[in-house]
Amino acid sequence: MIPRYITDVDLSQLPRVRTDVVVIGVGIAGLYTALQASEFAQVMLIGKKGLDDSNTRWAQGGIAAVTAQTDSPALHLKDTLVAGAGLCSYEAVDVLVHEGPERLKELIEYGTNFDKDEQGQYELTKEGAHSQRRILHAHGDATGAEIVRALSERTRQTDQITVLENHFVIDVVTRQGECVGVLVMGPDGELFFVESTATVLATGGAGQLYRYTTNPDIATADGIAMAYRAGADIKDMEFIQFHPTVLHFPGAPRFLITEAVRGEGAILRNIDGERFMEKYHPQKELAPRDIVARAIISEMERTNSAYVYLDITHESEELIKHRFPTVYGFCLQYGLDMVTDWIPVSPACHYIMGGVQTDLHGETATKRLFACGEVSCTGVHGANRLASNSLSEAVVFGHRIVQRIKELPPLEAVRPLAFVRERKMTAIQTREQRIRLQKLMLRYVGLKRNEAGLKKAMAEMEKMLALFDCQSREKEAYELLNLLTVATLATRASLLRTESRGGHYRSDFPDKDDVNWRKHIIQSIDGGVREEVELSNVE
Ligand code: SIN
Repeated sequence: MIPRYITDVDLSQLPRVRTDVVVIGVGIAGLYTALQASEFAQVMLIGKKGLDDSNTRWAQGGIAAVTAQTDSPALHLKDTLVAGAGLCSYEAVDVLVHEGPERLKELIEYGTNFDKDEQGQYELTKEGAHSQRRILHAHGDATGAEIVRALSERTRQTDQITVLENHFVIDVVTRQGECVGVLVMGPDGELFFVESTATVLATGGAGQLYRYTTNPDIATADGIAMAYRAGADIKDMEFIQFHPTVLHFPGAPRFLITEAVRGEGAILRNIDGERFMEKYHPQKELAPRDIVARAIISEMERTNSAYVYLDITHESEELIKHRFPTVYGFCLQYGLDMVTDWIPVSPACHYIMGGVQTDLHGETATKRLFACGEVSCTGVHGANRLASNSLSEAVVFGHRIVQRIKELPPLEAVRPLAFVRERKMTAIQTREQRIRLQKLMLRYVGLKRNEAGLKKAMAEMEKMLALFDCQSREKEAYELLNLLTVATLATRASLLRTESRGGHYRSDFPDKDDVNWRKHIIQSIDGGVREEVELSNVE
């Protein structure tokens, strides 16, 4: 059983601070939303680590938005819907493709330097399932780092934003179905209550659910778990994207090799040196991500190998070093020279399409609680996210959230309220439990799933949840409980969806079933599980 609150404190005994808007998370969604909100409100921005520590920081490929004369919102919309495999919300995608270009201009105004060519035009690259070159990038393949640099510099200069680094939000606090703030743990374990008119979850994704992931350590699904405990609706949790090309080399961490490498011409070869993607999809290496990832797994199984190769050796040294300085430099540390060597790669968990369900203004089912970026499920990604749409989604919906927050009446002062203690929570051997969970997820809730495996995983997770019964107050224990909570949501939805679509593949139901499954699975702590037909019905 998942408790409403994961710690047992009496708020009336805690120090309390008040702000207009509290934003949790310091990736693009958190930084941008905080900056926009600071134009009319006092903002508190809370990060688990420093301002530079977010998933955004590691984004390589870029940000997708229509800027070229030859491109159009209609084409961007079509590509997004096709990748989303019938489960995108047409309205949400329409918002994304039409508002993305304006928001991109704001990122530039905030100081982000995207790469330009010699004529001063933005360089545009392509990634899987994009019909056009429409992805802007920075420093070749360091787009996220550049965005974080620009936005965090601006944030630090903004008096209306108070930044709390190395602070962990334990839970969002609700009163009669309305969010009234957050319970925060400081770097020395001290607790306090931040009371706020609006609360924005921008906590990123859940990559740490898996043993192999492109996400940093902080991606522990905190926002999804907190929102679930607070009564919000959690949607589409079975759709998890594995990035096809992640470095797989002895001694090296699983480092993302951006899809833009394939966009610039790289091909995939199996262990025998054969190019194989033409067997799987007409778009070959630039097919939608789920298809490329599963094709790689099939080739790995067929040839009994733990990896395949990414080969860009036919392109010029100049192009490789200019476009991919980060990837080039990283591989070189391990003796792999992209100019001359094929790079060993395999898929790893990258992005979760599901999350906290929001409306078109980022508002969740819990009043005054908003979700932005990977933690949210706005309907933009459907069953499979189009590459580089996530950075644009964060700014488009961050902007809309702030417009909605402007209209909110101020919160009445919150009476001191006591949490009901449902159960004491701490992890025994937290680290071991986290690895055990990550292995379970990889084995049974990974790229290929089936009923027997999913049931086994669910039973194991329930046993692990029952272990939360001892007494210390530690961030790692809270993170583990958040991961376990979200793992059960993903596993339950995967068991229910008896078909294959996008980032959810069932070997016992390998086909897409539009008759029965053009639907979303929505879970909530109070309402259990329900299904909702996707009415947009467009692909
Ligand atoms: C990549 O650079 O391949 C990742 C981009 C994305 O996931 O959108």
